[in-house]
Amino acid sequence: MSTFQTYVEENQDRFLDELFDLLRIPSVSTDSKFADDVRRTADFVKERLLEAKVDKAEVVETDGYPIVYAEKMVDPSKPTVLVYGHYDVQPADPYELWKSPPFEPEIRDGKIYARGACDDKGQMYMHVKALETMLANDALPCNVKFMIEGEEEVGSNHLAGFVKDNREKLQADVVLISDTGIIDNENPSITVGLRGLSYMEVEVAGPRVDLHSGMFGGTVANPINVLCQMIASLHDEQGRITIPGFYDKVVELSQEERAEINRAPQDDEKYKQELGVQKLTGEDGYTTLERIGIRPTLDVNGIWGGYISEGAKTVLPSKAYAKISMRLVPNQHPDEIDELFTKHFESIAPETVQVKVSPHHGGEPAVVPTDSPAIEAAKQAFQDAWGKEPFLTREGGSIPIVSLFQKELGIDSLLMGFGLDEDAIHSPNESYGVFNFLKGIETISLFYQHFAKA
Ligand code: BES
Ligand code: MN
Ligand code: MN
Repeated sequence: MSTFQTYVEENQDRFLDELFDLLRIPSVSTDSKFADDVRRTADFVKERLLEAKVDKAEVVETDGYPIVYAEKMVDPSKPTVLVYGHYDVQPADPYELWKSPPFEPEIRDGKIYARGACDDKGQMYMHVKALETMLANDALPCNVKFMIEGEEEVGSNHLAGFVKDNREKLQADVVLISDTGIIDNENPSITVGLRGLSYMEVEVAGPRVDLHSGMFGGTVANPINVLCQMIASLHDEQGRITIPGFYDKVVELSQEERAEINRAPQDDEKYKQELGVQKLTGEDGYTTLERIGIRPTLDVNGIWGGYISEGAKTVLPSKAYAKISMRLVPNQHPDEIDELFTKHFESIAPETVQVKVSPHHGGEPAVVPTDSPAIEAAKQAFQDAWGKEPFLTREGGSIPIVSLFQKELGIDSLLMGFGLDEDAIHSPNESYGVFNFLKGIETISLFYQHFAKA
């Protein structure tokens, strides 16, 4: 048993207690009624970093929520690791679907249930405890910097400014991020690609006011009917997106690269069963892993209008709305896709309605080199801690700041997350395995050892 494993085992109850205290603070960044809690979480993270014995830690104010910055410098000639994570969480709604309250963490069957358990408090906190573990064992071989933000779930609006203003301070050899997942606990993996995001809101307006659907239905266009037709037309029979130019910049992978992606285990039968669906869908000619990792997609996230309360009201609505997101792949650019979507959506609107299209926050896709010293060190760490070589995977989610770090700091990220599909991030009953939390701390500590030698 490694020294790290022993230390983590001996201290696991305290590690979990501390994480539970962090999970109890409802740091929902999108909802202003939690503003004080979000700020309190930044202070909490700073205090825990100080206890883990960083040289200094500060809560840096921005025009939004603060960024927690900390560092532990051991030797300027040694490599430097910049840890990024986020302390904000998604809203817990719908509350009634939680088996235990989202901000009262509880362990059931080896899993910690709470909003943020996996995304990203549990994963971010592994790094604080890995630092403690290494220092307690006199085994911190690198300099470490922490940059933990509170606006990731709302688009990281103030992080770019902070990074640009602090290029010198943030200099590092790698950005280390645990905000992704592994295939499963038998098949560890390192993420080497993430999709980008373009997110639009549309309004389709018809008559000046809501009308009686009997008196006017059949003569005046119903904006909800029209919106549904417009949305339906955004995909063709092959599951491809019909927006002109949408695929123009998409990088097509070689057969070898596709074979590499499909080497990872993926059991579609089990996948369907776990998700409760009869049949899978998607773009023709691509496997499930390719549809998630290397192909762009378009989805309606929400659609509303008309009467949606109890009972029936006969109404021809004046307006209809939808929130539509597109996941992007290299080399699609969110601003360009926003523009293509807007132009197309306006062009397919019939004369019977008027449409308004407005973009929400988006983000660029990212891929990282698969042969870097950081990836090599991470592979060795997984070999030590899990007894297995990790797969290299591309995930479908988005972490827009990965491309920001590449552009502004010239540093690639190592995406070493330990979440599972079943952790239900952003959903009710989010969880994180106690095993994953503890094993993650050990794996991260081992990564530093190998990276320092590289
Ligand atoms: N941790 C996720 C991203 C993620 C999830 C990456 C699963 C890989 C696998 C992150 O907190 C997140 O939710 N990102 C948002 C985008 C952001 C701009 C709000 C997302 O992917 O929807
Ligand atoms: Mn996250
Ligand atoms: Mn998230």
